[in-house]
Amino acid sequence: MCGIVGYTGTKAAKDILISGLKRLEYRGYDSAGVALERAQEGGTTLDVIRRVGKVAGLESELAGVDAASTCGIGHTRWATHGRPSMVNAHPHVSCDGRIAIVHNGIIENFAELRTELEGRGHRFASETDTEVFAHLIEEAYAQTHDLLAALREACARVVGAYGIAAVCADEPGVIAVARKDSPIIIGRGEHGSYVASDIIAVIDATRDVVVLEDGQFARLTPADIEYTDAQGVPIEPAVTHIDWDIDMAEKGGYPDFMLKEIYEQPRVVRDTLVGRMTAGELDIDELGLSMEELNLIDRVYVIACGTSYHAGLIAKNLIEAWARIPCEVEAASEFRYRNPIITPSTLVVAVSQSGETADTLAAIRDARIKGAKVFGITNVVGSPVARESDGVIYTKANKEIAVASTKSFIGQVVSLTLLALLLAQVKGKLTTGQVRMLFRELGDTAEQIQWVLDTQGEHIRDAAAACVDAHSALFVGRGMGAAIANEGALKLKEISYLHAEAYAAGEMKHGPIALIDPGFPVIAVATKSPVYDKTVSNLKECEARGARIIVVATEGDDDIREIADHVIYIPRVRDAFCAITATVPLQLLAREVALMRGCDVDQPRNLAKSVTVE
Ligand code: AGP
Repeated sequence: MCGIVGYTGTKAAKDILISGLKRLEYRGYDSAGVALERAQEGGTTLDVIRRVGKVAGLESELAGVDAASTCGIGHTRWATHGRPSMVNAHPHVSCDGRIAIVHNGIIENFAELRTELEGRGHRFASETDTEVFAHLIEEAYAQTHDLLAALREACARVVGAYGIAAVCADEPGVIAVARKDSPIIIGRGEHGSYVASDIIAVIDATRDVVVLEDGQFARLTPADIEYTDAQGVPIEPAVTHIDWDIDMAEKGGYPDFMLKEIYEQPRVVRDTLVGRMTAGELDIDELGLSMEELNLIDRVYVIACGTSYHAGLIAKNLIEAWARIPCEVEAASEFRYRNPIITPSTLVVAVSQSGETADTLAAIRDARIKGAKVFGITNVVGSPVARESDGVIYTKANKEIAVASTKSFIGQVVSLTLLALLLAQVKGKLTTGQVRMLFRELGDTAEQIQWVLDTQGEHIRDAAAACVDAHSALFVGRGMGAAIANEGALKLKEISYLHAEAYAAGEMKHGPIALIDPGFPVIAVATKSPVYDKTVSNLKECEARGARIIVVATEGDDDIREIADHVIYIPRVRDAFCAITATVPLQLLAREVALMRGCDVDQPRNLAKSVTVE
């Protein structure tokens, strides 16, 4: 998530902006910048300073900038559109350089807006979606001569999510702010007015803040703050007193990053799908492969590690079911040493949240040497996996801080689903109408995740209490449920240190059932699917031996209660998409067990967020 800070008052703006941006560093970023108003002979101008890299580098560059400026905006960028670079760093400016903006969010219709604006002579300097805002405001300002009114007009043209702050050299001391789907906090301090994307950036100046709501606007000046609705009608939003300490503020009020990131998953689904259906057609043009090249693909390997490998297991089900081409999923560390069969019509998909996992990178290089086309799916723009692949889809999960992957996994599954849909359409196995229907249902998983988060917490805590003293646990499922069981087992063991393993439910009777003794936890994914009845009969075998049975089931399924000790429900969803919703209860279950066992859910022992050694 990018970071925004703005200040207008009586103190040196650059010091306030830099200290605020430093407070936002934990969120992850690749570049930073500020726009500062400077009074000069005959008026005011804007100094815009941007740097790739750390805020400290920006700070040293500002050392030479006049400290007299008392109004400015600052930004830390986590690249989503356009690689990390100086020209893509915020703030972005209008053609005449007299308006500067910083933005957090994604503009879905930026391509058409950019074409329209370029058609009217606007010159773009960056690859970002954000820059369209600067030019839209510039055009509106020429009519309104009022920055906030111009911002309202610009926002009316934009489809997507934004937290945005703008300054204008013709309105010294004014910061115009708007919010839709991307957090904006505003407050008055002793020395002026503050805006930020996160309370942590302004908490030293004020704890009494307005959390701007969607469709609300604000005009900050050194002396006061005015709020309006989208029509410019004055409003009086409620003021919230924040009593969090710094640590809580960094986590947005959540007790740990893992829970914060689990709750960000509906947003990850929406953001990863933004711009992926254009004029009714799938749009994955970053693939770097033509439709003809895609149509020649006759085998897919998904190579990855850990949780990313489990995303591959889900992709296998989808690619083979929809596109009807073989898909093999392999641990990258194994793939590279077994001399796999690769031909020019083999597509290798490398999945990596960090984009820098050594095993995955080595496997990519090996596959390319053997002539395969390689396609990356990663959460880090410009990462080695992205750079060394022929094409790449970025999961729009923003930085994931907890070591245990949650939201990035969901982003990977959504991205792999898009790839499976594209392959199926190119191969003529799904019609355009079917693809559109599935795309819509894929988007619905965001609300389904939210339903789980809103309603299943107590059932999950009860189930966790049933596992906390176990010495081991079995995760079972069939079909998509078997793939999900793998991720559930990894989550539990990596953060609670409780041994767990995943097994295809049909395999239980071929050995693992010997493990079952009274109270042994069996955690099953038994959502409504073509293999539901078979899964239930496997669970009955476990129940007969005294297992404690926890089931992730489909809302409305009361029969499952006859064998389950604990039931966690997810909304009814097409089997193809149940991995997105059924994984969430298992993430939460693992976290609850870990907390009950006194474990650090964000920084589990022995683990690193990216494994850059083989
Ligand atoms: C995920 O919960 C684990 N921390 C780990 O298995 C991780 O998925 C694996 O190391 C791969 O990382 P990557 O996605 O960054 O390549």
